[in-house]
Amino acid sequence: MILPNSPEATKFVQDAKVLAQQELATDVFFLVVEAPKIARAAKAGQFVQLRILSGDFTLRRPVGVAAVDSKKGSVAFIYRVVGRGTKALSALMPGEMVNVLGPLGHGFTMKYQRPLIVGGGMGLSPLLYYADAMKGKADVLMGGKTAEELFWTNLFDDLTQEVFVTTDDGSMGTKGFTTTLLPELLEKGDYDVVVTCGPEIMMRGVAKIAKEHGLPCEVSLEKRMACGLGACLSCSIDTTDGQRKKVCKDGPVFPAEEVFA
Ligand code: FES
Repeated sequence: MILPNSPEATKFVQDAKVLAQQELATDVFFLVVEAPKIARAAKAGQFVQLRILSGDFTLRRPVGVAAVDSKKGSVAFIYRVVGRGTKALSALMPGEMVNVLGPLGHGFTMKYQRPLIVGGGMGLSPLLYYADAMKGKADVLMGGKTAEELFWTNLFDDLTQEVFVTTDDGSMGTKGFTTTLLPELLEKGDYDVVVTCGPEIMMRGVAKIAKEHGLPCEVSLEKRMACGLGACLSCSIDTTDGQRKKVCKDGPVFPAEEVFA
């Protein structure tokens, strides 16, 4: 095992200065930290483990990389406050420090020319970095319960060609789920891959529709993770060919056919 920060390292651990922290929507925060080595190394779809340095917080929390600025050496994350740890994270002010380990895991394949990104909820966070890395070649289809959840449209606007929206209540875009609109987009569009992250039920539906249209599909799985380094097995899954794989190390991005039957 290559240790973080060693000369051969592809991952790094450091105390990083908070550069910005902003509440984007109720309990959803945008955090930017100064971590130049991680910014240079991070690929779209990878994640980091954050550890709060104050109080009695010992556990690291996995958070997908939402954006990087390799020139400024900054890495950004979008996360939801779901418990004591993320509450403490959201209280960090610019100038305070947080420990960052990463980049971790296996990201998206970057070989495609015309991706359709499909995301829901906090799954849109790693997809934001993917959209940026695809340099304007992608479209995005995003779904939420109501218009209020879809503050993401502003974030994706500059990074994609087109933004399509569905809401459960019809308060924005097409009424229904992402899977309601997806078949029509795939029939009309010139996409060569579907890339998805969000609730598992959504990703399963998206993967099935992509397959029916003969398109490859990559899914980014969310699992509870402890170590994030492939050592504790807390994130193990069974693949369709009967193997055990670790979401933190073999994923979080997998070809859909490898994880959804
Ligand atoms: Fe420990 Fe994946 S989180 S093996």
